[in-house]
Amino acid sequence: MQNINRTDYWQKIYQQKSSDSVSWYQQQASGSFQLIKKSASCLTDPVIDIGSGASVLVDQLVDAGFSQLSILDISAAALQISKHRLAGACKDIEWLVDDVTQFTPSRKYRVWHDRAVFHFLTIEQDRRAYVAALKQALMPGGYAVIATFSIGGPNQCSGLPTVQYDADKICMALGDGFTLLDQMTENHITPAQSTQSFSYFRLKKNS
Ligand SMILES: C[S@@+](CC[C@H](N)C(=O)[O-])C[C@H]1O[C@@H](n2cnc3c(N)ncnc32)[C@H](O)[C@@H]1O
Repeated sequence: MQNINRTDYWQKIYQQKSSDSVSWYQQQASGSFQLIKKSASCLTDPVIDIGSGASVLVDQLVDAGFSQLSILDISAAALQISKHRLAGACKDIEWLVDDVTQFTPSRKYRVWHDRAVFHFLTIEQDRRAYVAALKQALMPGGYAVIATFSIGGPNQCSGLPTVQYDADKICMALGDGFTLLDQMTENHITPAQSTQSFSYFRLKKNS
């Protein structure tokens, strides 16, 4: 998918649907929150959420006291929903409208989180660009928390094809430079009451 179409595609979704009706909606981003907390050494560690959409993960991180948050999405409309919901609590957050495959980080992060973005990258060139941004963004010893559809999980989402991962496949996709620390699966129940199997991977960037 070309970049311009990708941007339009996601913009329309957030402009046309309510954020609690999309299939990936979670009332609480418990798995992500737990793995981010496990990775951060203190509340001032810089954390970036890639393809945040309108997820309440940022609310949970703010409530927990994380003070250096960057929230990135290709859709400005998605970020607007979160900003509006957070109101005054979002003043110290860095909001980035960008395509992760073109993202040039301007700082280093301790934790990179992505739930349900990497698995949309079906083209090798896009996956390589993602990994380059990830490596550039993470400080040595930093952590990547990446959640994708599991092997046997959905092979599409929101009308787009997806790639399914297990531990070996995600390690292959990320290449050298990361050590897999944890993995867990989650059966996500969509607002339409179907079940989607997600795998969460926590990896450490080698120093
Ligand atoms: C399935 S949603 C997941 C949203 C959120 N992470 C969650 O778990 O609720 C995928 C999100 O990634 C964003 N996205 C898709 N492709 C992207 C890209 N190439 N760069 C940045 N964001 C992207 C979409 O706008 C959308 O918000």
